[in-house]
Amino acid sequence: MNAAGRKIRMGFVGGGEGAFIAHAHRQAAGLDGRFELVCGAFSRTPENNQRTGAALGLPTERCYDTWQSMLEAESALAADQRMELLVIVTPNHLHAPVASKALRAGFHVFSEKPAALNLAELQTLRNDVIGSGQIYGLAHTYLGYAMVWQAREMVRSGAIGRLRKVLVEYPQGWLSEDVAGQGNKQADWRDDPEQSGLGGCIGDIGTHAFSLAEFVAGQRIQYISAMLGSHVVNRRLDDDASMLFKMADGASGVLIASQVCAGEENPLKIRLYGDKGGLEWRQEDPASLIHRAIDQPLRILRSGTGQPWLCDAASARMRLPAGHPEGYLEAMANLYGDLARSILQRLPGHDAPGVPGIEVGLRGMAFIETAIANHRGEAKWSEIPDSFNAGES
Ligand SMILES: NC(=O)c1ccc[n+]([C@@H]2O[C@H](COP(=O)([O-])OP(=O)(O)OC[C@H]3O[C@@H](n4cnc5c(N)ncnc54)[C@H](O)[C@@H]3O)[C@@H](O)[C@H]2O)c1
Repeated sequence: MNAAGRKIRMGFVGGGEGAFIAHAHRQAAGLDGRFELVCGAFSRTPENNQRTGAALGLPTERCYDTWQSMLEAESALAADQRMELLVIVTPNHLHAPVASKALRAGFHVFSEKPAALNLAELQTLRNDVIGSGQIYGLAHTYLGYAMVWQAREMVRSGAIGRLRKVLVEYPQGWLSEDVAGQGNKQADWRDDPEQSGLGGCIGDIGTHAFSLAEFVAGQRIQYISAMLGSHVVNRRLDDDASMLFKMADGASGVLIASQVCAGEENPLKIRLYGDKGGLEWRQEDPASLIHRAIDQPLRILRSGTGQPWLCDAASARMRLPAGHPEGYLEAMANLYGDLARSILQRLPGHDAPGVPGIEVGLRGMAFIETAIANHRGEAKWSEIPDSFNAGES
């Protein structure tokens, strides 16, 4: 039990047998310890849905055939019984419609990224987020890592001086072959524009690289020059993206996102250089943050509880002493922890501090659309619209 004496009642849309990210969500919520799963519409297939619910210990009546019937039935339950937080872990096309409806029905939402299929849809969602007064969070998992917060704080406090260069890359290899054609269901929907959106790799992992760069640098990527490609026969959406960018305060950068870097796993990496030094963080070694000062030997800061040289925001996101590895699940659990704090303490506003919110979603979507338009068009540089105004009527 938490300080408020109870757990937050959570429901899932998506995450049936054979699904990927839903397991990480459930394990991360469990790691945080302040959530209990009370209901779900886990799959479009009724048998899968019921089997998933039974395996998770849910009563049959709270495994719903559709997400619509789940919202309706849960709304009708007593206030101390009904779901409070809806977690959306479906393919992309359902994120915004499900989130909008849930927010309007009075539920908090934690959604997988990207927040919507396009900017127009996202603007409606943003209005619902603001109008509902409920909390909306976006599962940019990498922004939950302690050493990402440490890097952000070091940039903010001037440890590397005035920012000049940002290099961010996310090369994966799992789509190097036509795995969709071989029955990989994760690959299958990701290559369907109706379920994935206009972007393939750019939306799937380019948005992670983009949000990481803006988060750590503490400034917006303003202009981009993009080249997208598809390297596998019959693939409909991009599987490879390379771009140059300029940030709002003058730093220049390079962003690479690719799913055809054969043999690669998940080495998301960011390097930032200012006029006094540089920082480097890599998600496959997330406990280490390399600091290169212009006039000092290179040093590697290591995560772990009780390290007085780490900032408060980083320390608050660690559970174990140095040398006991924490990783992806803990990063996701940190987002759940921040969600829990906002929900239980009824903090005002629709953003849960520490959790990427709707504006991060808008930035990500503006990035996807601008990159695609730039790739297709003749312009050398395209400006990513300021998300606060994007699509506003
Ligand atoms: N944050 C991250 O690091 C991260 C990592 C991987 C995936 N993702 C995102 O998570 C989402 C899911 O990706 P995934 O790889 O887990 O996909 P997946 O195909 O493994 O899972 C999708 C799930 O949604 C279910 N579903 C589809 N339509 C449904 C409906 N109408 N009602 C109920 N359930 C439905 C499917 O049955 C399946 O269980 C995507 O948006 C993806 O971008 C995020």
